[in-house]
Amino acid sequence: MDRLVTTLLFSSFLLLSLFSTTSYAQTQNCSAFAFRNNQNFATCNPLPLLNSVLHWTYHSDNHTVDLAYRHGGVTDSDWVAWGLNINGGRMAGAQCLVAFKNSSGQIQAYTAPIADYFTQLRQGFLSFNVPRIEAEFLNNEYIIFASLELPSGRTSFNQVWQNGQVSGQALQAHSQSGDNMRSFGSVDFANGRLGNDGGGSITSRQRKRNVHGVLNAVSWGVLMPMGAVFARYLKVFKSANPAWFYLHVACQTSAYAVGVAGWGTGLKLGSDSVGIKFTTHRNIGITLFCLGTLQVFALLLRPKPDHKYRLYWNIYHHAIGYAVISLSITNVFEGFDALNGQKNWKRAYIGVIIAIGAIAVLLEAFTWFIVIKRKKTDSNKNLQNGTNGVNGYGNGTHQQA
Ligand SMILES: *[C@@H]1O[C@H](CO)[C@@H](O)[C@H](O)[C@H]1NC(C)=O
Ligand SMILES: *[C@@H]1O[C@H](CO)[C@@H](O)[C@H](O)[C@H]1NC(C)=O
Ligand SMILES: *[C@@H]1O[C@H](CO)[C@@H](O)[C@H](O)[C@H]1NC(C)=O
Repeated sequence: MDRLVTTLLFSSFLLLSLFSTTSYAQTQNCSAFAFRNNQNFATCNPLPLLNSVLHWTYHSDNHTVDLAYRHGGVTDSDWVAWGLNINGGRMAGAQCLVAFKNSSGQIQAYTAPIADYFTQLRQGFLSFNVPRIEAEFLNNEYIIFASLELPSGRTSFNQVWQNGQVSGQALQAHSQSGDNMRSFGSVDFANGRLGNDGGGSITSRQRKRNVHGVLNAVSWGVLMPMGAVFARYLKVFKSANPAWFYLHVACQTSAYAVGVAGWGTGLKLGSDSVGIKFTTHRNIGITLFCLGTLQVFALLLRPKPDHKYRLYWNIYHHAIGYAVISLSITNVFEGFDALNGQKNWKRAYIGVIIAIGAIAVLLEAFTWFIVIKRKKTDSNKNLQNGTNGVNGYGNGTHQQA
């Protein structure tokens, strides 16, 4: 059994490393981007969300920065904006560069300070000087070029970026969900780093999210349902007794162990990102942890198979078990929604769930077949010697479901 647990744990970690390496390979190489007029910037960094990249050159002698902000995946009926927030963290107080296609069909770029959440991104002077700003739109991408005279005494600032729709000359509010609510962070123009967006640097936060996603998808989302399949369908074979029990326990306890680790990473992510709330995901996660823990203790407290309370224990154990599995799968999908854009993971997971579901349906049919056949033989036998029961666990599997 120890070996089983080790094998299962090992395979989960194998899966984990696989997933996390592939997601890193997707990061684009921004330094290979060719700007029109052969413009060059010393540094570039992809922003973690909203298909955006920031390129810049910092001049330490006059404390200015020349930058290009690229925002892809939009149409020319969208607006885009990027800004620094000198004193605040996010939108309120941000000093923005804005671009959109105006009613005369030209790409217009201007500066807009944001006073509060009711802003309409009206043109105005920023709290620092912007000697140059222009923009272009090409291949579903806006690029804003600008030079900023940075506020003195520092090179590190909070930054925000955003997109929304334009209607006539009016810039509509951006989407109030998903990535549009998380597009903020920090940038240090001198050392070329992004980061400090609540959960450390952007890549480290993305890595934490990936680790959280893989740990939980593998444990709660795959091992738990698999363990239930073992218990339900192997049990019916006499030769698989008591192997099914150990498989079930091994699967469920390793799922629980990995799942608790994943749960912990989730709590950490939640506490690190103040203001970003995935309430449903979080609540289901907490419920799952409680129910999962209850199941582990129930294992230790289970009555002997022939004990008179065993039936009630079985009913309880199955009810909680199925609740855990449905909530787990639901929450994995909630998690994918929160990750926003990890479509491949979602597809891979749907594939795995369909496979487990198909196996379960086949086994279900097969089990019925066996049980009915065995009942027939048994009832013939019972007529002869009056014994009862399919195996040590009562009349087959189905009374318990
Ligand atoms: C990114 O592109 C630049 C310029 O084409 C190249 O020198 C560099 O090696 C590339 N980096 C990676 C990680 O591919
Ligand atoms: C700052 O210095 C750089 C080169 O050192 C120069 O290209 C740029 O025009 C200067 N910016 C301002 C606003 O003076
Ligand atoms: C549209 O933008 C261009 C370029 O900034 C500007 O010259 C033009 O006046 C703008 N049109 C309107 C209607 O604001």
